[in-house]
Amino acid sequence: MSDHTDITWTEDVRPTKPRRGREADHGDGTPVLPAPLTHTTPWHSESGLPAPRRVIVADDRMKADAAYRLVCEGTALLWRGDYQGARQLLRALGRRLDRLTPKPGATPAETFHRHRQARGHRARVLGMLLVVLEDDHGLALRRAPDVRAACTEAYGPPRHRTVVSLRELLGVIGAHEWRRKGVPIPALDARIHPHYGVFSPVRGEYVDLVGEAPLPAAAEGAPATAFDLGTGTGVLAAVLAHRGLDRVVATDSSPRALACARDNVERLGIGDRVHVTDSGDLYPTGRAALVVCNPPWLPARPTSTVEQGVYDPGSAMLLAFLDGLAEHLEPGGEGWLILSDLAEHLGLRTRDELVGAFDAAGLRVVDRLDAKPRHPARATPPTPCTRPAPPRSRPCGGSPRRAEPQAEFALVAGDSVVRPHGRGASYMSSGRRWNASCPVSGRIIRK
Ligand SMILES: C[S@@+](CC[C@H](N)C(=O)[O-])C[C@H]1O[C@@H](n2cnc3c(N)ncnc32)[C@H](O)[C@@H]1O
Repeated sequence: MSDHTDITWTEDVRPTKPRRGREADHGDGTPVLPAPLTHTTPWHSESGLPAPRRVIVADDRMKADAAYRLVCEGTALLWRGDYQGARQLLRALGRRLDRLTPKPGATPAETFHRHRQARGHRARVLGMLLVVLEDDHGLALRRAPDVRAACTEAYGPPRHRTVVSLRELLGVIGAHEWRRKGVPIPALDARIHPHYGVFSPVRGEYVDLVGEAPLPAAAEGAPATAFDLGTGTGVLAAVLAHRGLDRVVATDSSPRALACARDNVERLGIGDRVHVTDSGDLYPTGRAALVVCNPPWLPARPTSTVEQGVYDPGSAMLLAFLDGLAEHLEPGGEGWLILSDLAEHLGLRTRDELVGAFDAAGLRVVDRLDAKPRHPARATPPTPCTRPAPPRSRPCGGSPRRAEPQAEFALVAGDSVVRPHGRGASYMSSGRRWNASCPVSGRIIRK
């Protein structure tokens, strides 16, 4: 998040057509016109974009080609025209940027790297169309919607006027709609309401897996505790409570996620069984019969706080989950790892590295389940909730046929696990195939 720099711009407040007889004149008939006004207003960017250095005022008279030239040169446009006109201009800029498809790299990892660079460039350029949020978070533009509630949810209560990018604001508005309507979760027979910047279960195949996987022996019978690490919206914690776990403890490093999970738990009326904790640690204290973790799927550096649900630099959270699992499981307990194999297809992590991490943590895999995707082919990883992500027609640099991220679900058992062999001790992958030969399936034998 970046909001420590001011934006300064000069606005010509003279009427476009001189209104005869209205203005005072200099005594010779030439009107006295108001001097241009210079404004200085704090900049705010949730994705951490730096404040543009050069800003000019623009309105509906600006043509898309001229606007594109300016924003590519680093000149931001502070919009003073019609709100719908600004959205049209943003779309026109997006179409021009779409023509800059990055060339595929020599390896999938390089292709992915170039793709991210291109997305970063796109975000920076589109982030150059700016609007002013007034000191009540309102937008003083013609035909503008009332964005005050959406902005208060995403930014907190208004304190002063702020300049934000229109692109970010559209994300804030989209997220507000998702939060209001909620995402239907069949495994809960209820809706989950994602907050802005929190990983949304909008592609919910993995949620069904958690709803359907056989519970470990340790979770049946006596009152059982489960942990949900990196709970996001709290969806998996809620599913576990729905399945009868007596106590679920949920953690997350993101304050937005913690607030969102608490909100959902309250809405669902399960606050007495699901405890959302903000200790700052990945694991709560104590042991659990079941530990569920859906870490960010890609081992790469997030470029903003809102990307922290998707990118896990150096697989840090994944490894911390695996390393801590054995000492947090009760006898007969299990850890459930939800993991896309997209990282493998992008060359960011190998299957051997993953299996090696299971080994190094003293774990064995007793089962693996696949999710069948219900969504169209997608090229990019799921996004935190900023707005509904439209289906993409092109993959991230490869051919369209290779663009299927796959939600993989592995059940990883700790040293203490005693899971009957006959219950399908296999290591299964899930979902849509990146390509036809993708899924690995085999039994993992206890060490
Ligand atoms: C892929 S999202 C999963 C969210 C939710 N469990 C679900 O399945 O929809 C990963 C979550 O892990 C959280 N996270 C990332 N790094 C973390 C860490 N080191 N400790 C705790 N939570 C972390 C993110 O904030 C995010 O909410």
